[in-house]
Amino acid sequence: MKIVILGASRGCGLALLKRLVFDDAAASQHTIHLLLRNPSSFSQHLCTLGMSLPSSVHLHQADALSISSLSCAFQSIRKHGGKVDLIVSSLGAVPVFEWKSGLKPRLQAGLERICADGTKNLLDVMRDSTAPTPALIVVSSNGIGQESLERLPWILKFFYHHLLTHPHADKHEMEELLHRAYGLHSDDFNPSAKSSSERSAAPFDPSKLLIVRPSLLTSGARTGKYRISEAGSTLDSAWTISREDVGHFIAESINESAGEAGSNALNRSGAYVVSY
Ligand SMILES: NC(=O)c1ccc[n+]([C@@H]2O[C@H](COP(=O)([O-])OP(=O)(O)OC[C@H]3O[C@@H](n4cnc5c(N)ncnc54)[C@H](OP(=O)(O)O)[C@@H]3O)[C@@H](O)[C@H]2O)c1
Repeated sequence: MKIVILGASRGCGLALLKRLVFDDAAASQHTIHLLLRNPSSFSQHLCTLGMSLPSSVHLHQADALSISSLSCAFQSIRKHGGKVDLIVSSLGAVPVFEWKSGLKPRLQAGLERICADGTKNLLDVMRDSTAPTPALIVVSSNGIGQESLERLPWILKFFYHHLLTHPHADKHEMEELLHRAYGLHSDDFNPSAKSSSERSAAPFDPSKLLIVRPSLLTSGARTGKYRISEAGSTLDSAWTISREDVGHFIAESINESAGEAGSNALNRSGAYVVSY
């Protein structure tokens, strides 16, 4: 598969890259293109971790908040040969605590809308492209919609509702964009897409979208043992999951799909909560 990853410099995206490139027998199947704001500092970071990337991994400079930068990166990937089968987006920003914002951390300056605007740009580039539409996997979060918020453990409910207002507003908008673009029905994100005619008016095929909604992220080790919700549903007692295990879940989803003929269909599509 030819895979493009946004957000591979750290966290879940880096965990996915490590899983696909270093740990997996299936790795040889994939050519991977990383879209990074700063490829040289990423290369240095890998050196400090004692990792060197194989020739099947290519680095491109790109800023998800600039549509022209994203378009250029995709053009250069296409020139590299062949169509892109899959895009993975694990965009995010570090929350910043400030006295003036009280208990509600904001996202880093300039990245307050990284998920909504980065995803909008990505969808616009996909819409404008004449190439076949790749499958898309996006990292979102548990506890964004009302139903999943209500099923959180009560301490997390308080934490999510009161402390994560800003990052979750950004994620909510991203989920709405994705649900509308793929014609996915959801009472929280796209209540109007109830009829099949409304769903079929959407520009993208919902069987080519996987939304991953992790519970609270930790920096723990990979276990490969976690729960996965039913599609579009949530999980009770969804406390935490490590970034390494989110990377594991995405890698497994990719490799299961890569085994299928036709390659850019996903075996698992829709929205899934992952949690221990
Ligand atoms: N914290 C939690 O408990 C929790 C729970 C569920 C879901 N989530 C969400 O899960 C996602 C992944 O989180 P994470 O902690 O694994 O990752 P993260 O540390 O937030 O990493 C985000 C990635 O996005 C990249 N990025 C940011 N702005 C960019 C831009 N303009 N253009 C291109 N790349 C850009 C960053 O690259 P740079 O190196 O350039 O900054 C980095 O690689 C996030 O959206 C996060 O909010 C978090």
